[in-house]
Amino acid sequence: MLAMNYRGPYRVRADHRKPDPVIEHPQDAIVRVTRSCICGSDLHLYHGLVPDTRVGSTFGHEFTGIVEEVGAGVQHLKKGDHVLVPFNIFCGSCFFCQKELFGNCHNTNPEATAVGGIFGYSHTAGGYDGGQAEYVRVPFADIGPTVIPSDIEPDDAVLLTDAFPTGYQAAEMGGIEEGDTVVVFGAGPVGLFAARSAWLLGAGRVIVVDHLEYRLAFAKRFAPCEVVNFREVHDMALHLKKMTDGLGPDVCIDAVGAEAAGSAMQRLTGVVVPLQGGAATVLHWCINSVRKGGTVSIVGVYGPTFNMVPIGNAVNKGLTLRMNQASVKRHLPRLIEHIQAGRVKPSEIITHRIPLEEVGEAYHLFSSKLDNCIKPVLIPPRAALAH
Ligand SMILES: NC(=O)c1ccc[n+]([C@@H]2O[C@H](COP(=O)([O-])OP(=O)(O)OC[C@H]3O[C@@H](n4cnc5c(N)ncnc54)[C@H](O)[C@@H]3O)[C@@H](O)[C@H]2O)c1
Ligand SMILES: [Zn+2]
Ligand SMILES: [Zn+2]
Repeated sequence: MLAMNYRGPYRVRADHRKPDPVIEHPQDAIVRVTRSCICGSDLHLYHGLVPDTRVGSTFGHEFTGIVEEVGAGVQHLKKGDHVLVPFNIFCGSCFFCQKELFGNCHNTNPEATAVGGIFGYSHTAGGYDGGQAEYVRVPFADIGPTVIPSDIEPDDAVLLTDAFPTGYQAAEMGGIEEGDTVVVFGAGPVGLFAARSAWLLGAGRVIVVDHLEYRLAFAKRFAPCEVVNFREVHDMALHLKKMTDGLGPDVCIDAVGAEAAGSAMQRLTGVVVPLQGGAATVLHWCINSVRKGGTVSIVGVYGPTFNMVPIGNAVNKGLTLRMNQASVKRHLPRLIEHIQAGRVKPSEIITHRIPLEEVGEAYHLFSSKLDNCIKPVLIPPRAALAH
């Protein structure tokens, strides 16, 4: 089959080296991909920053597809169903899944005790092949995949597999109270949905911070929100306090993670010579800006080692820190309702649709933020037949 193939940092291509996946377990399904996005998280893999990313692996954890075949034990899915597949691979029954911590499933990632399995996200997340391909093997097929309701378009559905639920969870973990001021760092897909979700959860004011003017302009329309270009700000904490009556915002959300720009020292120690698990710039900005007693919510991804963060400030300010990989499936009923009610149209953030054959160009475009790219969607060659 045609599949994205990781050859090393900054080198990916589509080729036919992989055989079609087969059912390996009675709970598996084989899904023929109809849409597959590239996520900001894929960029950490593409840049060679995620440990144990093996040459030959296929990325892709945001996809929709048609069920081609199901294992003998699958009861709720059948051939021909069009499904959206959450990025988490989870069993549905372990201690953590019972608490709806699907991103922390204990049964799907033998390599770690932190994150559960994730499609196409290196052997640190279980070593599963991902959805930037014509076909994917989907384990626990009765648990993760959701049949796309007939009134939800595939372009909206594919954003329900990660970006929208992750942004929503970021806002939810912020514990937003009616009228709160919420600052979102990062105007990528995740930050945009976090900003949009902050309103759904009762925010009274939303401010988005980035340095890409085209993304800030989009955020202003899409969220809608006030914006700050961090390149124009000397001291982020001071700036945000001045914007918020001197006290600071009630909630700060990190939707940037390990590859944050904005501090040469953090880039050096977090990215160039990785002495810490990524540049902690946004963690500093969040902790130092948020008001005393406020909440910092982190969905930006960091490496597994450690980061130098001002934990003393967090203690002395009495902050609540919340963070996790998103638990996608937990949010789906609510988010599907928001889409059906016309309150959110996720596909508005899709800027590029690119044939899977051109996956190398797609990564370059998204990584270098060219052509005003916000969210690229890869379309496999046989997707058109499917829908
Ligand atoms: N926790 C989860 O479940 C989960 C799921 C999806 C993505 N993520 C993570 O969320 C983050 C964002 O993902 P995305 O798809 O939106 O990525 P993206 O790369 O499209 O967006 C990141 C944005 O952050 C901006 N940025 C860089 N430095 C900044 C700074 N110091 N302050 C403010 N903005 C800054 C960039 O200009 C860019 O617009 C990534 O770290 C990704 O790995 C986490
Ligand atoms: Zn993702
Ligand atoms: Zn589990």
